[in-house]
Amino acid sequence: MERTLIIVKPDGVQRALVGEIIKRFEARGLRIAGMKLMQIPRETAEKHYAEHKGKPFYEGTVAFMTSAPVIVLCLEGPDAVAAARATMGATNPLNAPAGTIRGDLGINISRNLVHGADKPETAVRELALYFTEDELLSYERAADKWLKE
Ligand code: CMP
Repeated sequence: MERTLIIVKPDGVQRALVGEIIKRFEARGLRIAGMKLMQIPRETAEKHYAEHKGKPFYEGTVAFMTSAPVIVLCLEGPDAVAAARATMGATNPLNAPAGTIRGDLGINISRNLVHGADKPETAVRELALYFTEDELLSYERAADKWLKE
């Protein structure tokens, strides 16, 4: 069992695609362990995107991510990080295949609707930026036994 951090970005919220995006992760079999609507403080966004500091898109990304409300999610499941990334598609929607969130709903790399942690270690770090431990719930859904052998 693994956890990952997902953000429905400001464009996803403003385009009224929150339900459409979360539906795809849920239908895949990932379980919501935490979820909230928030406007990301600049300090949190700077920590989140610290590895990109100095790159041409850093300032624009931080400004965009803090510009309007987002939905932050903790999703749980076997190989949750990889499963969520496959469901999202490539960072650049133009390279994301049809059937993925970005391939179906996006067209621009800076407005790619959704963020997902890129590896399990990153997920642990990013989850700690957005959630306290007591905001994350572990539970069994009725359908979970139908999602595995
Ligand atoms: P995200 O997964 O949130 O991580 C960094 C974000 O920067 C990325 O999604 C894109 O939305 C944004 N970005 C803009 N331009 C680029 C680029 N050239 N390469 C990578 N990320 C970019």
